[in-house]
Amino acid sequence: MGLKFFCRVAIALAIVLIAVVILEFMLLTLYVKEQEEDVLKATQEPIVAGIRGLEVATENNNFASSTKESHSKKKEVIDVPTKRTLTLPTIHVSAVVCGDRAVEATTMLKSTTLFTKRTVQLHVVAEDQLHDDLKNIFNQWHTVRSGKVMFKIYSLHFPGEKFDEWKRLFKPCASQRLFLVDVLDSIDSVLYMDTDTLLLRPVDDIWDHFKNFDSWQLASMTPEGEETSLTWYPRFARHPFAGKNGMNSGVMLLNLTRMRAFGWKEKIIEAYNKYKLSITWGDQDLINIVFHDHPGLLYVYTCDWNYRPDHCMYGNNCGAAKDNGISVVHGNRGVFHNDKQVFFKAIYNTLRDFKPGENITLLATRLSENLKSVGTDPYCNAMVDSVLKYPKKYSVL
Ligand SMILES: *[C@@H]1O[C@H](CO)[C@@H](O)[C@H](O)[C@H]1NC(C)=O
Ligand SMILES: *[C@@H]1O[C@H](CO)[C@@H](O)[C@H](O)[C@H]1NC(C)=O
Repeated sequence: MGLKFFCRVAIALAIVLIAVVILEFMLLTLYVKEQEEDVLKATQEPIVAGIRGLEVATENNNFASSTKESHSKKKEVIDVPTKRTLTLPTIHVSAVVCGDRAVEATTMLKSTTLFTKRTVQLHVVAEDQLHDDLKNIFNQWHTVRSGKVMFKIYSLHFPGEKFDEWKRLFKPCASQRLFLVDVLDSIDSVLYMDTDTLLLRPVDDIWDHFKNFDSWQLASMTPEGEETSLTWYPRFARHPFAGKNGMNSGVMLLNLTRMRAFGWKEKIIEAYNKYKLSITWGDQDLINIVFHDHPGLLYVYTCDWNYRPDHCMYGNNCGAAKDNGISVVHGNRGVFHNDKQVFFKAIYNTLRDFKPGENITLLATRLSENLKSVGTDPYCNAMVDSVLKYPKKYSVL
């Protein structure tokens, strides 16, 4: 009897075991199939490149086709029931590239794609002679080939007949960012970053600031400085500027829909005509003038979203970076390339050499190693933990 009972239990257990194995097998097959479909879909998705020719003659055609494209993409998102595409809409990131900035720009753009699971669409406005280089770099990315990252390349576009005047304003073609409303004419919202910036956490996190915009705000910026006595605008500017210390335009969320409705382009041209003889920093000054007149349209985030050498040059004056960690580093004054602040250069070099698709854990490790071995700047070096905070946190994707 004891034996019989034991036999029954054994048989029951065996049946359960077999059922579990079969179930597992089925789930696995389903999973593999889904993955394959995902990859297949991704490789079939056309890599959209070389949308150019913003000349008036072809303008309408181009925009019509890019609108169609975004419509069909939307449809696809709804049709394909994978978790990623269903719950997470595409994030749009833009850069303006001139001169010898192709590697720097693609490094910045890469940084916006690394820590996220979302599809990222890059919009790169560049001088025509850089288009081939840019395409070559993007096409080497594993994430571009898999369709997780998409890119479009546009020609420069300035309003009216003043092409050369706008192009010369400040650094080569930095003023292009003033007119993204025109260039990206079928896009609702975009994250614009200077080529000498790097995002150190998921792009979703910065994009989420859009949710904090009130119903008027149409762009985000950080203050140009934390200390009025050390900041350029309150000390030297001969034109109006936004906030107490002026605003830095290196990292901006732009709601292009609202900017168009506001008449952004016209306001910028107006500011230019009125103040062109007293502006020093070109396009950033114009943005400051417009937001001085319309402070309610600007969303201001803290300096950890735009951390610059100034913040640690004479002691640390960005408290938010100490408290929260650094989300975006901005290597202005050329510090990604010169030897004035090797701390910043080490961050840049690490990101530059990282290959999309590589194990992300390696990025945090290399960053940590490379920052250990830099110079002796007491203030900036004290920020190592703030730099590493997010790469470490998000390197376990
Ligand atoms: C931008 O503004 C428009 C108009 O108010 C709004 O419909 C849209 O959702 C906004 N975009 C984002 C990303 O918040
Ligand atoms: C990535 O690298 C880390 C550390 O070397 C390792 O523990 C982890 O398993 C790797 N992940 C993948 C997906 O290979």
